[in-house]
Amino acid sequence: MSEPLILGIESSCDETGVGIVRGHEILANEVASSVEEHARFGGVVPEIASRAHLESFGPTLARAVETAGIDLSEIDAVAVTAGPGLTGALVVGLSAAKTLAYALNKPLYGVNHLIAHVGVDTLDHGPLPQPCAALLVSGGHTSILHVEDIATRVTEIGSTIDDAAGEAYDKVARLLGLGYPGGLIIDQLASEGDPKAIRFPRGLTAPHDREKHRFNFSFSGLKTAVARWVEIRRRDGEVIVLEDVAASFQEAVGDVLSAKTVDACQHLSVDTLVLGGGVAANSRVRSLLESRCGEAGITLRRPKPGLCTDNGVMIAVLGSQLVRAGVQPSPLDISPDSSMPISTVSI
Ligand code: KG4
Ligand code: ZN
Repeated sequence: MSEPLILGIESSCDETGVGIVRGHEILANEVASSVEEHARFGGVVPEIASRAHLESFGPTLARAVETAGIDLSEIDAVAVTAGPGLTGALVVGLSAAKTLAYALNKPLYGVNHLIAHVGVDTLDHGPLPQPCAALLVSGGHTSILHVEDIATRVTEIGSTIDDAAGEAYDKVARLLGLGYPGGLIIDQLASEGDPKAIRFPRGLTAPHDREKHRFNFSFSGLKTAVARWVEIRRRDGEVIVLEDVAASFQEAVGDVLSAKTVDACQHLSVDTLVLGGGVAANSRVRSLLESRCGEAGITLRRPKPGLCTDNGVMIAVLGSQLVRAGVQPSPLDISPDSSMPISTVSI
């Protein structure tokens, strides 16, 4: 089987994603988002997300199959997010995937959502040189990974000790009254601001953090610093230039992410870094990493911004890599694992 045709299903959070991939070619990438239903709560409400997946899955699958111009019986395997994520949301995608795999008599691959974020880059840029390093930055996770084999061996060498980078974006956007989700809104606002206007703290970068937290991140202090800065000026009736706050916050996030990740690449002696996750779409994270990787002689691989946020294609791509690597399919009675460890690529 040279170019497997894979159906990928994603339902870990607020996006119902169905992707169909043949080898490195995307045949369909359908995403139905419930983000607007969560916006007034300032974050994802699990029960609303589950209900939305239930309502969206059938139509999203139908659109994907139609766009791809295939018959479901042609697919070689079904890949689905088994974790991490919201249990009630994962159950919907997993049940659909099991049903399809059983009815079509095709193998099922329950995969790790986070590894799929990293693997999606292979669509545009070909197989990953292995070993390589990965920076995974999403709404719930921020980790530096040592990828020895994307299908079987991924190790976390550092992660956030409190908020994830995306979570910091969302919380800062909320305190600035900018809406949810905050990443893209802040990114756009920051392009009009001065990144040097305010010097916000860079978490875990002090010399005494180097021993224990060299590759770990902390964003909750940064979020609090932004909140305090804004609170003091609001109290004093000063005009707040939101663009400058956004740009300065974004600079702090990008600075820490890029500095620690390049340091990790050098520590691991790898010459390629791959990005993944929603925050990998961030313009400053991308540009700072590009220049710092360039200076260090590291090849930077970045998925297209549109493929960084949650989608079914990334799940299909990881499924494809598992099929090609000869990894055993998952049993049909697998359960969702809301806290699936990053070292588990598939179950
Ligand atoms: O990977 P993802 O789609 O979902 C999770 O697996 O969590 O990431 C969503 C996160 C949100 O926190 C969102 O605010 C952030 O990615 N995000 C961004 C950008 N686009 C999405 N953060 C910064 N800049 C962006 N352009
Ligand atoms: Zn994600």
